[in-house]
Amino acid sequence: AVQRTFSIIKPDATNRNLTGAINAKFEEAGLRIVAQKRIHLTKAQAGVFYAVHAERPFYDELCEFMASAPIVVQVLEGEDAIAKNREVMGATNPAEAAEGTIRKEFALSIGENSVHGSDAPETAAVEIAYFFSGLEIVG
Ligand code: CMP
Repeated sequence: AVQRTFSIIKPDATNRNLTGAINAKFEEAGLRIVAQKRIHLTKAQAGVFYAVHAERPFYDELCEFMASAPIVVQVLEGEDAIAKNREVMGATNPAEAAEGTIRKEFALSIGENSVHGSDAPETAAVEIAYFFSGLEIVG
């Protein structure tokens, strides 16, 4: 079925001017960018977004990193968009990511891993709603 998923191009990637290269990977995979904006989160805003990880040892570092530079938040649409996006991103740890994936080609480390993508339809809906109003999503 046609789905929407939420995506972030992270600070390590925007710092290295990789927004276009990453978007090309999404589009080549058949994902359509139906909403997109460049924003700079505060650490508190990053903390709310990643609240599910609040108890993890890397939480503070993660929030600090996500607030360190601009990010690009996106809604991607397509057939099985959630799974397709996860396939194009590759494994969270770039050392384990498959050839040709975004994280294999661009990520620097498990923390500075260039992209985020929703892991399920329920999280996609919550994540999209945190950053976008309905009017900003143009399918
Ligand atoms: P993401 O998909 O954005 O969701 C949570 C993020 O936490 C994950 O990608 C990683 O970038 C980050 N993360 C996971 N494990 C670690 C770790 N061991 N050290 C630092 N960051 C991590």
